Amino acid sequence: MSRVRRLSEFGRSAALLIVLISASHGEPKPAAATPRWDPNWWKGAVIYEVYPRSFADTNGDGIGDLNGITAHLDYLQQLGVDGIWITPFYPSPQVDFGYDITDYNAIDPQYGTMKDFERLVAEAGKRNIKVIADMVLNHTSDRHPWFVESRSSRTNPKANWYVWVDGKPGTPPDNWLSIFGHSAWQWDSARQQYYYHAFYIQQPDLNWRNRPVRDAMYDMIRGWMKRGVAGFRLDAVPQLFEDPKLQNEEYLPGYTAYGDRRTTRAHTDNLPEVHEVYRELRQVVDAVPGTVLIGETYLPNVAELAQAYGAKNDELQLPMDTQYGMHSSLSAELFRARLRDAETGLKGNVPLFVFDNHDNRRSWNRFGDGKHDAAIARLIATLLLAPRDTALMYYGEELGMSNNDPKSVDQVKDPIGKTGWPKEIGRDGERSPMQWDAGANAGFSTARSTWLPVAPNYATVNVSTETKDSGSLLNYYRSLIRLRKQNAALREGNLRIVDENNKDVLSFVRAARGITVLVAMNFSASPQTLSYPAAQIGISGRRLTVLAESFGSDGTPASLDKLVLPAFGAFIGELR
Ligand code: NOJ
Repeated sequence: MSRVRRLSEFGRSAALLIVLISASHGEPKPAAATPRWDPNWWKGAVIYEVYPRSFADTNGDGIGDLNGITAHLDYLQQLGVDGIWITPFYPSPQVDFGYDITDYNAIDPQYGTMKDFERLVAEAGKRNIKVIADMVLNHTSDRHPWFVESRSSRTNPKANWYVWVDGKPGTPPDNWLSIFGHSAWQWDSARQQYYYHAFYIQQPDLNWRNRPVRDAMYDMIRGWMKRGVAGFRLDAVPQLFEDPKLQNEEYLPGYTAYGDRRTTRAHTDNLPEVHEVYRELRQVVDAVPGTVLIGETYLPNVAELAQAYGAKNDELQLPMDTQYGMHSSLSAELFRARLRDAETGLKGNVPLFVFDNHDNRRSWNRFGDGKHDAAIARLIATLLLAPRDTALMYYGEELGMSNNDPKSVDQVKDPIGKTGWPKEIGRDGERSPMQWDAGANAGFSTARSTWLPVAPNYATVNVSTETKDSGSLLNYYRSLIRLRKQNAALREGNLRIVDENNKDVLSFVRAARGITVLVAMNFSASPQTLSYPAAQIGISGRRLTVLAESFGSDGTPASLDKLVLPAFGAFIGELR
């Protein structure tokens, strides 16, 4: 089972409030807040995911750190990103590499200090880059003091902070499965009860029906807002609630990679109560306008995704659209259908498109055919950056980094890869160190060995080499991001799909402020010659001025009467 399928199944400018002295009353009175940033900064933004363990190591221990991110902010600025989402950097036993938190208000020493974090935010701010923190609300580490207290008795003050259920050892309350394999229930001998864990045993689920849990989380979020973060990526939020009746799931045909009988997840995923929490979270972050909520929303269809924005657009601003790019089918028809869904099914909201992240095989591997991989990577870049969307990138995607998978189970670091080997090999492959240059450890670290091995292709696939090559994937990403900011049609234009029945080529037109742009992408391995009837395009001009081409063009002028796209070629041109 592919990783994509596995995850889709669980489904200042330091201007804070300025207090003015009111002349008439002589009392302090809060004046209108000077905004920290444009409240709409995230609309159409490019957000770049940094997995801190793997980005850049400055203290030579083979593990990336916060100072490593700070050291590379110029690179990110040149790439053109508006924000970085950093996966969890809080103290953690690292069972799930940071998604098992023991203290939400501190920095894990292996990543640095709170001072380092503050410096990172300040330096990013100077480059107009916002910092988005990962927020793990569904569960804590089993070593978090809350859980330690909660499991100590049935009567302690935190007794009800986690999901505890009576039962007999060996007989879990129901057939619910952990997303990471086997029963979602773990027997605790001290309390003589089971606790629920949607993920690892070491990640007990918090009880979101208990008000003090919510209040503690909201306070903690306010603390990070004070530290200058511009948003939160909300981990596993559709998993916040479980059916209190503990009804069994239905069995589906077949077995999971972990050898469990497959089941539905109707009683544990995306229960209606999540929306109440989304609204509460939104109220918390709206205290600083433009603080953005990104949802890790693996949802089965656009209708459920639309709900995550809220009936009154009062929930998440950017729930991840996993339908668009989180699959491995390079089909014009599929992408056209998903693009149309996002355009028509989200009430005009901005979709958050994404291809790569730290949980899924890299798009290079998923979509590549072994022969046209470089062209396909440019096609993916165009699919991400040309539509009307906010674009979520993953470090190294812009270089064409590919998975560096473990070759045998003894090499695996990610626990699911140990439980599921060989059907589920874990997520180490997509987390290999960032490839900065052709030197030792790809310039990631000066250590003798790095926490995960550097991918062998680093000698050519790296920032330094690709910067110098005008035809590199990195420079294609840079030019598309620049174009997306400079060209009004690509920045703020609407999107209209044209040539709708073409099974090989996806084309759309974007227009704003009198500028019209045509985007055409060939999904086939053979060249395609296109011509677009005037009536379809809606403007009289026929000439196309090239804005971007993913392929080396022979210089033939392009027009709506004849546009030739090579295998997997992508074209963006302005109509004149
Ligand atoms: C989703 C995160 O992206 C993943 O890496 C993690 O293992 C699970 N949530 C559990 O926190």
